[in-house]
Amino acid sequence: MNIVVIGPGAIGSLWAYHLHQAGHRVSVWSTKPHSYFKLRLDESPAIELANNQPRMLQQADLILVTVKAWQVEQALLPIRREINPETMIAVMHNGMGTSDFLIKHFSTNPLLVAKTTHGAYKLSDQQTCHTGKGHTQIGSLNPLGEQCQFLSQVLAHALPECGWNDNIQLALWNKLAINCAINPLTALHNIKNGELAAPSFKQQLTDLVSEVASVMTLQGFDVDESQLLAQVYQVIDKTAQNYSSMHQDIHHQRRSEIDYITGHLLSVAKLHNLKTPVNQKLYDAIKHIETVGRNHD
Ligand code: PAF
Repeated sequence: MNIVVIGPGAIGSLWAYHLHQAGHRVSVWSTKPHSYFKLRLDESPAIELANNQPRMLQQADLILVTVKAWQVEQALLPIRREINPETMIAVMHNGMGTSDFLIKHFSTNPLLVAKTTHGAYKLSDQQTCHTGKGHTQIGSLNPLGEQCQFLSQVLAHALPECGWNDNIQLALWNKLAINCAINPLTALHNIKNGELAAPSFKQQLTDLVSEVASVMTLQGFDVDESQLLAQVYQVIDKTAQNYSSMHQDIHHQRRSEIDYITGHLLSVAKLHNLKTPVNQKLYDAIKHIETVGRNHD
């Protein structure tokens, strides 16, 4: 397949590398000006992929968008005329809230959304480390996307495991609950995920998850609140030694994904006239740090 990966950050580079190794014609689209993009994964020899070549976009069968949620619009709008109306577009990012934009601007394209638990980070522009093997799920965002179930096999062949999920929205909401609980708290308290297992965080985590469960119920999902909380604790345990992505963004004074994690929860809660004060407080605190900085707290 002709595949363009938009946003070769850690996860984008991981997929670009593996799709290339699986025999696809892969190129990237990035903010870098060069026409080639050098990429090394772990100890493997470097590969060179075409970068920012409109011809590749025009010929793409699949565009895999791996920029952060808040960058999806700014990455796709300037190049939308280069994208063939039949090209499959799949987004893969933390958080939710980009589907309205995609459905509005790419209504003729098969649209898909994927979530992955693979861990990766960038040592440098060219060097990516695959830090943890994970699992990927992909599902459709529109009826045309439903006809692209074979994509799960394409992705699974390149980087196992990957499965098609008919109920990807539920999977995304479950992940949102985990991110609403873990990400803002670890960023605010400047701690690793594992430190949230301390009894002092128990009430807050319970309340955060309970609010997410209420919103999910109003969205029509059948939610078991205690199971959702148990999942949060499982991730805290499994990723105990990690700093969450929001912790890293705030620590490096980068824009975080708060608008597409807690912010998405708040906007859906608002549609249902539901108050979610515990999440609201964390949202306000992270926005405060983003705009004013931690020193002015
Ligand atoms: O955003 C993150 O950091 C991750 O999604 C998770 C699961 C919270 C682990 O750190």
